[in-house]
Amino acid sequence: MTEPRPVSQNILVIRNGTLVGENGLRQSDIVVAGERILAVAHSIRADDLAALRVRHDLPDEPYSIVDAAGLLIFPGLIDVHIHAREPGGEHKEDWYSATCAAVAGGVTTVLAMPNTSPPVIDAPSFAYALDRAQRKAVCDFGLYLGATNTNQSVAEQTPHLGECGLKMYMGSSTGDLLVNEFAPQYEHFARYPAERLIAVHAEHEPAVQYFASRGARRPPICADLETARAITLAEYCRRPVHICHLSTRREIELVRDAKSRGVPVTCEVTPHHLFLNLDYELRADLPKELRLHQPTCYAMNPPLREVSHMQALWENLDVVDCVATDHAPHTLQEKHSARPPSGVPGLETMLPLLLTSALEETARSERLTLSDIVRLCCAGPARLFRLAGKGTIAPGFDADLTLVDPNSEWTIGDKPLFTKCGWTPFAGRRVRGAVRQTFVRGRLAFDRHTVLALAGSGRHVIPST
Ligand code: DOR
Ligand code: ZN
Repeated sequence: MTEPRPVSQNILVIRNGTLVGENGLRQSDIVVAGERILAVAHSIRADDLAALRVRHDLPDEPYSIVDAAGLLIFPGLIDVHIHAREPGGEHKEDWYSATCAAVAGGVTTVLAMPNTSPPVIDAPSFAYALDRAQRKAVCDFGLYLGATNTNQSVAEQTPHLGECGLKMYMGSSTGDLLVNEFAPQYEHFARYPAERLIAVHAEHEPAVQYFASRGARRPPICADLETARAITLAEYCRRPVHICHLSTRREIELVRDAKSRGVPVTCEVTPHHLFLNLDYELRADLPKELRLHQPTCYAMNPPLREVSHMQALWENLDVVDCVATDHAPHTLQEKHSARPPSGVPGLETMLPLLLTSALEETARSERLTLSDIVRLCCAGPARLFRLAGKGTIAPGFDADLTLVDPNSEWTIGDKPLFTKCGWTPFAGRRVRGAVRQTFVRGRLAFDRHTVLALAGSGRHVIPST
């Protein structure tokens, strides 16, 4: 009888890179076998590799080497808030273009919002959206289920549909999903299983409408009121709530206070609320090169704020759990129209913007370190959404890796974008740090300027129980 042959696995050795972890940086080599990280060690030589092969029963096949000298290696980023637009909005984005933008931006897992057309609100619409994503995604992905006024029994059922969480629009935004009244909100908070996350768009709808009728767009009180309500609901129902896109000083104070009292609340901030603001971005005298777009291009929900709110977000990053893009592509034609939709793309620019803050020699760099980026965009989101095997560079974890050249300086907008909408609100900004290669479960998905991953290579991720 012949011995069974060891199963062939692509072995990849990434040498000489600087790994960025939550607790600091270290020079290390990484051995990847198939989809997973096999070993991480200071220097892996040929005999170490031979020993690993024996220990893990790997075939004696040639292996590939990547020389990462001079590069930073991050765990692949996890963006917990994107709008992939498919189904229904394929003229501005689809699962392929959105996830190409993701890997070009160093993002290897995206969690997609349910405000598609049709919206993802029950088993058939979930299956439909999942099928689209499975056919086209080039990185891993999760799908939210959308809360409606009447789908509490769908949402609470066990086993669940495989959603990464329940998204509740407590205030209106793009699409028709809206749960703004107390009774259906309370019923979702009371019934949705506590081990799964409710993520909320917290803007108080009566306040939004009140100010709209007076020509004002969603001032801070709209977000402050509804975030207070979401926290109160979570506290009373003793269940976790995740507040999406925090944008005001009061909101961040509310979250800090709630956390200090042990309320299970988490939150995210977006790059646009960290890097853009009303006082600066929309000023009429802004230099032309920074004013590539009309003001309506900067419209999003919640909107940009005055600079003091932006500063409050920076000053309180310690209570923030994730930076998430709220990647919400709309075409320029739509943004320039009489009724411009809200939202801006962000997948390709999040990491360069954060890297620039972490690498630049200014006061701001003290507020954000490279390790903070890992906490906010990799390990933190993986913990929060219980994505097993994601967010950390360690043996046994998925080989989701983002290789970055920290010395490359470039201007956003100079390179073509992968998002189908084709524009970015950050155009004209000089940034430091360029994504060189992105690996998704051991496969080279993005290499310099090219997406190599095939449509359908992304995998659906489900929170572990
Ligand atoms: O600005 C936004 N755009 N905020 C949202 O909540 C939705 C998003 C979209 O889907 O366009
Ligand atoms: Zn959103």
